Amino acid sequence: MSVYNTKINRQSESYRSNYELMQGKVKELEAKMQEALFQGEAKYLERTKKQGKMLARERIEMLLDIDSPFMELLPIAGWGMDGFGAGGTIVTGIGFVSGRLCMLNSNIGTIKGGAIDYATLQKGLRISEIALENELPVINLVESAGANLPDQAKIFNYGGTNFREITRRSKAGIPTISIVFGSSTAGGAYIPGMSDYAIFVKDEAKVFLAGPPLVKMATNEVTDEESLGGAKMHSSISGVSDYMAEDEMDGIRIAREILENIKTPFEAKHKQVEDPLYDPEEILGIVSADVRIPFDQRELIARIVDGSEFSEFKPLFGNTLITGYASINGYRIGILANNGVLLPDAANKGAQFIQLCNQNNTPLLFLQNITGFMVGKKYEEEGIIKHGAKLINAVSNSTVPAITIITGASYGAGNYAMCGRAYKPRFLFTYPNSRIAVMGPDQLAGVMQIIGRQAAEKSGIAYDEEQGKAVSAYMVKEAEKQSNAWYASGQLWDDGVIDPRDTRNYLKLCLDIIHNTAFEGAQGFGVFRM
Ligand code: COA
Repeated sequence: MSVYNTKINRQSESYRSNYELMQGKVKELEAKMQEALFQGEAKYLERTKKQGKMLARERIEMLLDIDSPFMELLPIAGWGMDGFGAGGTIVTGIGFVSGRLCMLNSNIGTIKGGAIDYATLQKGLRISEIALENELPVINLVESAGANLPDQAKIFNYGGTNFREITRRSKAGIPTISIVFGSSTAGGAYIPGMSDYAIFVKDEAKVFLAGPPLVKMATNEVTDEESLGGAKMHSSISGVSDYMAEDEMDGIRIAREILENIKTPFEAKHKQVEDPLYDPEEILGIVSADVRIPFDQRELIARIVDGSEFSEFKPLFGNTLITGYASINGYRIGILANNGVLLPDAANKGAQFIQLCNQNNTPLLFLQNITGFMVGKKYEEEGIIKHGAKLINAVSNSTVPAITIITGASYGAGNYAMCGRAYKPRFLFTYPNSRIAVMGPDQLAGVMQIIGRQAAEKSGIAYDEEQGKAVSAYMVKEAEKQSNAWYASGQLWDDGVIDPRDTRNYLKLCLDIIHNTAFEGAQGFGVFRM
């Protein structure tokens, strides 16, 4: 493979000013991540400590192997939504437990009793999808008041999906282990109830379909929480619990032991590898903070792949899309990276390369920085629609795993053709400068203004220029707000916003996860329109 020779000049004004702007974006990311670390008001934290209990993140720390990374997923899901804020009431992510790659879900019982708001539930559903696709056992660290009651209408149906997915994963041979550390009421009782293994912590777990007040109302029976749903009752009488743990640490120990018995340890399939030749710090000077300014994605590739070696496919053809092979942590990957607007040749090259990667069973990495497909009479005549359709066809029917990283713009059908959320990459991460939308804010406002003007003309009314300008300015502002990385991540359009300098580390773990599963390239695709 050929080593990529960088053309970056670290002393140039453009590099330096971009570096500073990107540093600012990373600082914004750090502030958002700080928000996501919130685990409740001081009174609840103190109470928990006094009771000798651990907080949600401490439980994760204790459960993970000592040297394990923890790839937190969807940390700011819910940001900007009407709910419990960045991250909701659950911490989710992937790490090693007893040498096995697992998905971890830890309820934050110290925020609203761990009640599940809309974003938290959506987070659970996405996590479930990732676990199923990547065959990861799920470990639930349960302490939750169940449905956030004021949100009940919004979440009721999705709640059902959550239970359905636990049992569907079980059928697929992917177990769920629940350790119950506290309350798990009503709907929540089905979390341990549906799990393959349930561990209840003595004197802490309280699991029932209805608590004592509701039982009294319904049947006039007088009872207390411990005899109605405590660990002793469920472990010795009802059988809802399979193991009674003496305390929280004992519960964690039991879960680790269960994993040792049910899943073989992870075996890295990669060999010794070379780091990239160039410092990942330089990514901040390279990737444009302003998505309207183009940058050469080869420079980014050179800072994330082994030995900065990149074997480019069709380098002289369709050059607004870079395609080629490289390795990350010894795992071969096929890369598709935008280097400009998608033109017919670029779309065809992409479709061909995806077919090749399916033929040779190579996972795909999409580096999106795309304003869309080229528009205009010339391109319509050349059949830009049918060429774009071929790329979308290839992405849709490809069966090798894909990872998408949005490094800049992600607009319109370009998002689709480059394996956006709807095309189900196994993982999708974004950079803090990224934008996801139907089109750029200026274009959107401009199009609306032209339509407004035409509508006025058709009805014979004079177009109000002043009002038009005001509406335009408002639309630009709204579109800016609704396309930035924080909004997108808050809406769960990605699996997390990452510091660009950490890209290689994320990809290394994602590829470990992907190679933990068997996959096979597609045997055929839909009809390619010629
Ligand atoms: N929905 C929304 N908010 C809830 C909630 C729920 N299901 N359950 C608890 N909360 C909120 C409380 O209003 C309180 O909010 P605040 O911090 O703004 O005051 C906070 O969570 C803590 O509740 P509190 O009852 O003081 O905590 P606790 O530790 O003494 O008890 C529970 C925790 C979970 C045992 C208790 O709150 C409870 O029984 N909740 C209802 C459970 C239920 O029936 N859920 C139905 C699920 S379908």
